[in-house]
Amino acid sequence: MVLPPKFRRLAVLRELIVTAHVGIVARAPQDVKASNAGNSCVSAQRVGLLALLGLGVNHNAIIWTLALLSIGGIPTPDTPLTFISLDRVAGGLSGGQVAVFNSLRRRATAQGLPVYLVGGPVRDAVLGVPANDLDFVLIGDAPALAAEVAEELACKVIVHPRFGTAIIDIEDDRVDVVTARKESYPSPGSLPEVSASSLEDDLARRDFSVNAMALPLVGDSPEVIDPHGGLSDIANRTIRTMYSDSFTDDPTRMFRAIRYEQRLGFQISSDTVSDLRRTIVSGYADVVSGDRWRQEFQKIFGESQAFKMLIRAIGLGLLAAVHPALCDSRPLAILAGENGLAASDYLAALAIPLSPADGEQVSRRLNLPADWARVLRDTIVLQDISPLISGPSVKVSAVCSALEGLDDNAIAASARLSQEPQFAARLARYLEVWKQVRPRLTGDDLRTMGVPTGSMVGEILRELLSAKLDGLVGNEEGERALVNQIISRGS
Ligand code: CTP
Repeated sequence: MVLPPKFRRLAVLRELIVTAHVGIVARAPQDVKASNAGNSCVSAQRVGLLALLGLGVNHNAIIWTLALLSIGGIPTPDTPLTFISLDRVAGGLSGGQVAVFNSLRRRATAQGLPVYLVGGPVRDAVLGVPANDLDFVLIGDAPALAAEVAEELACKVIVHPRFGTAIIDIEDDRVDVVTARKESYPSPGSLPEVSASSLEDDLARRDFSVNAMALPLVGDSPEVIDPHGGLSDIANRTIRTMYSDSFTDDPTRMFRAIRYEQRLGFQISSDTVSDLRRTIVSGYADVVSGDRWRQEFQKIFGESQAFKMLIRAIGLGLLAAVHPALCDSRPLAILAGENGLAASDYLAALAIPLSPADGEQVSRRLNLPADWARVLRDTIVLQDISPLISGPSVKVSAVCSALEGLDDNAIAASARLSQEPQFAARLARYLEVWKQVRPRLTGDDLRTMGVPTGSMVGEILRELLSAKLDGLVGNEEGERALVNQIISRGS
């Protein structure tokens, strides 16, 4: 495969980094071409990262290494697109989104309606990648417009006339149509006060220049409205806030900056990093509610490069601003290259270095729902009891007793994250096999054999299960013999 020049440069850089850490990652360029290279690259990548972390290499070096190793990020167009084909945008949309997009486009053309595509979808159109969600801004009454569109398309609409916002609910999509507005923050970290305003004000209130562009819906290829240099920041692969108090107004934007940086393979500008650090040092993270922080974690967990985002957030001290114990990225690096990761894997990676008391505080600080709190708590428990599970002569029944009642997702994530093969193997075996093992004999069988009804039935069933798990009984006959032995022992 011939790589484009930009990728070739990255590939060379990647090899340089790899070579610079000789003995850490042993990998030759031809490995990349080998058809089965995926797994070996992933494990080499993991080994290298763990070694880097073990050597105490700083987080920025790790995140750069990660970026280079995975040749991450979305390629930037050679010249940023200033004119965007509306047909091309429509081509990347789902059925429901296309219907709304075309309806608004028709209305903009026929009625001169000042309606614009804004924010993330414009950024994604410039980058030539499909948009996630569609956001439209109208200079005027957005709820009324959304209601008309919903009527035309025979779909649902949720309107908030007081806030000038509406959500068109069509097929599996939700499309936002809002009245252009300006925002002011009565105090740092609070939700903004909004009032209807111009497109300029609406773009100026946004988080980053790359998210502060608008696209008119008139003509075949309208020009991007870009008052804050978003196109040039895309060309330079930069995430930049538009005013220095942006993070103090809304500290959740610190997470957003990292999310876009890592998703797109961009870099947060040095000024914006300085603002971010200043915001953290000044304690603004403390004023954000647990629910708002948790939603940011949730968004990160849904991203394909989530582990990189969390490592970067730790490197910048952002997670420590949420709770001081969230400062160790080593378990997250183990997730490099893993597929099919879920929120529980990231939560467990964050939980591994925590003490039970810290885990409790993190759960409370983020107001975690019960299932997430359980993953956090039980991952910490699993760390504590790991010697009981991985010891050389530990019986299977003892492993099962130690794991009984613990959360399956915490067990699965701990197996994935463990660097101790025996521990990982036993956890996986427990979930796959041991947890399902039952004695052949039932309570009724025991009563027929003369065991009196009551607690003894349960105790004997438990003993039978242990014997079966430890390989002391193999079939029903063996179980009956053991029951008779217990009965005679008890009499
Ligand atoms: N926005 C903002 N500040 C925030 C959240 C959102 O300025 N704290 C603005 C940005 O302009 C953003 C838009 O609102 O582009 C929509 O927010 P969201 O849907 O969260 O962002 P997208 O850019 O669409 O992100 P994604 O690609 O992740 O869907």
